[in-house]
Amino acid sequence: MKRDVRILLLGEPKVGKTSLIMSLVGEEFPEEVPPRAEEITIPADVTPERVPTHIVDYSEAEQSEDVMREEIVKANVVCLVYDVTEEATIEKIRTKWIPLINGGAEKGNKIPVILVGNKSDLQPGSSMESILPIMNQFSEIETCVECSAKNLKNISELFYYAQKAVLHPTAPLYDPENKQLRQQCVRALSRIFTISDQDNDGILSDDELNFFQKACFGNPLAPQALEDVKNVVWKNTSDGVQDNGLTLNGFLFLNTLFIQRGRHETTWTILRKFGYDDSLELTDDYLYPQLRVPLGSSTELNHNGYRFLQKLFEKYDVDKDGALSRLDIKNFFTVVPYMPWGEDVFTTVSTDENDYISLHGYLCQWTLTAYLDIHRCLEYLGYFGYPFISEQESQTAAVTVTQNKLEDLEKKQTQRNVFLCKVIGPRGTGKSSFLQAFLGKSLSKQKSSTGLLSYYTINTVHVNNQEKYLILYEVDVDTEFLKTSDAACDVACLMYDVSDPKSFNYCASIYKNVVIISPQQHYMDSGIPCVFVASKSDLTEQKQQHGLSPSEFCYKHRLPPPLAFSCSGPEMPSTVIYSKLALAAMFPHLNGSELTASSFWLRVTLGAAVVTLLGFTFYRAFIKQK
Ligand code: GTP
Ligand code: MG
Repeated sequence: MKRDVRILLLGEPKVGKTSLIMSLVGEEFPEEVPPRAEEITIPADVTPERVPTHIVDYSEAEQSEDVMREEIVKANVVCLVYDVTEEATIEKIRTKWIPLINGGAEKGNKIPVILVGNKSDLQPGSSMESILPIMNQFSEIETCVECSAKNLKNISELFYYAQKAVLHPTAPLYDPENKQLRQQCVRALSRIFTISDQDNDGILSDDELNFFQKACFGNPLAPQALEDVKNVVWKNTSDGVQDNGLTLNGFLFLNTLFIQRGRHETTWTILRKFGYDDSLELTDDYLYPQLRVPLGSSTELNHNGYRFLQKLFEKYDVDKDGALSRLDIKNFFTVVPYMPWGEDVFTTVSTDENDYISLHGYLCQWTLTAYLDIHRCLEYLGYFGYPFISEQESQTAAVTVTQNKLEDLEKKQTQRNVFLCKVIGPRGTGKSSFLQAFLGKSLSKQKSSTGLLSYYTINTVHVNNQEKYLILYEVDVDTEFLKTSDAACDVACLMYDVSDPKSFNYCASIYKNVVIISPQQHYMDSGIPCVFVASKSDLTEQKQQHGLSPSEFCYKHRLPPPLAFSCSGPEMPSTVIYSKLALAAMFPHLNGSELTASSFWLRVTLGAAVVTLLGFTFYRAFIKQK
């Protein structure tokens, strides 16, 4: 919305321009007026729309045509004054003034005009008959008003209309020639309808209408008013009301009606509530609310965010099978102007047996977006109408910026829920398989699926009875680790292939030679926990060419011994290793020099043993029952 309004009065000499301004300001009719009133500024708090308003007079006797043209360029709206008793001053509107004001302007860029018939005190009848054809001819004429500077009739109204024409312009919303909403406006209102139709049945129920009314205008509709609204729509449209609710067509009709009755501020209030600017684009302020993420902090969705996203999932899971099919996903994103998810989503999160995205996978994907690109995430939430549905100021209410990692390290505990693990290893070690196995896919299952493989996978793991998100990222072999960010993560997973004697060399060199921050620093002393993983453990182990064996290497560097991993069996790959990675990410201090490697891994292995034991007991109880 504009921050101030500049109103210019134009028209033939002696029609009463100066008198109108003086009457407004002095609240009485001045018998004597100068040819031209000084420019006046009305402070925001005394104007009806609460914006500072400048009123500018024009006098042919005092000002050249060039000066007038300059004033036209500066003006936001022109009040074109005529004398209701002088037909000639009306004729000049068409022949002289409108061409002068908007003659050179492109369609859509025209300055709005308000026709003002002054001296109505001198004439009992109305000038409407001569004015209507002019209004029909020029679409930039917002409205007309008859007034009198002498008996102060309609003076404040006139300036109110002028203000409104600037703050709530009709042109972007409505095409007066075809008497219908413009395409862009239909698109915006359709998005608003989709968001407001919270149960996705294509109809705004009474509850949904009330919620909408309250969010946009601050108060619910009285029951009778609600019925009246539906009645008007029902009487005037064939399909505007269905099952006692408003359809999209009904909603569009209602807005057309507001505009046709000069109440377009109503439609503007709705549009602005949903983030639109004067040209019906979503504003940057709305889509990209400010969020400061200091170095060392990460971004996560909080319970507000998850609650909103879960509701959205349920809305689009039309057949209530707990999963989104490809079609569901397409419908899901209709309010976003482009498709944010590519095919790689299906290899980033776990899917169900139909290869649909389950609620779990869906929340994982959102968690990943929030972690990797919070601004994108806020943008999407904006498209989905988060502030409206959640009744919050902005999308930032859906995210948490975590405490700096260094502080966590100092306190030896963390509130974070999402951790990033970089998986590093030579070509062909089985990094991608390791990532896919995290989604529960064994090697044979991976081979049967054809989709594009993602560089990321994300899933939840249990660490000390808490559920945490772990992101795995497969680092390209050619990465040179030149920047700090190349190596930065919560845990590094260094993977070598037990069946390939050369492969440990690569991991060892990355561990020792990686350039982080400065050439002197390596993963070795970066403070990032490192875990070595011995992949393809189902194959015969070959002696590694590296001087030390992997176990010796780890012992020497006070690291936990390599963890064996294989996903070759037909069954679901074990998740234990991922929990261990998450554990190392959560408690980086345990991996450091202050604790010996053995005591750290003793805890982990003990934990795992307890789980196995419990599992066994449960199994026995189960057998007995049978
Ligand atoms: P220029 O500055 O020459 O362009 O004229 P203007 O449009 O500023 O007109 P101005 O305000 O000087 O008024 C012209 C004459 O019309 C004056 O004698 C006013 O007293 C008179 N007048 C202005 N408004 C009204 C009105 O509402 N009713 C009546 N009866 N007379 C009016
Ligand atoms: Mg004057």
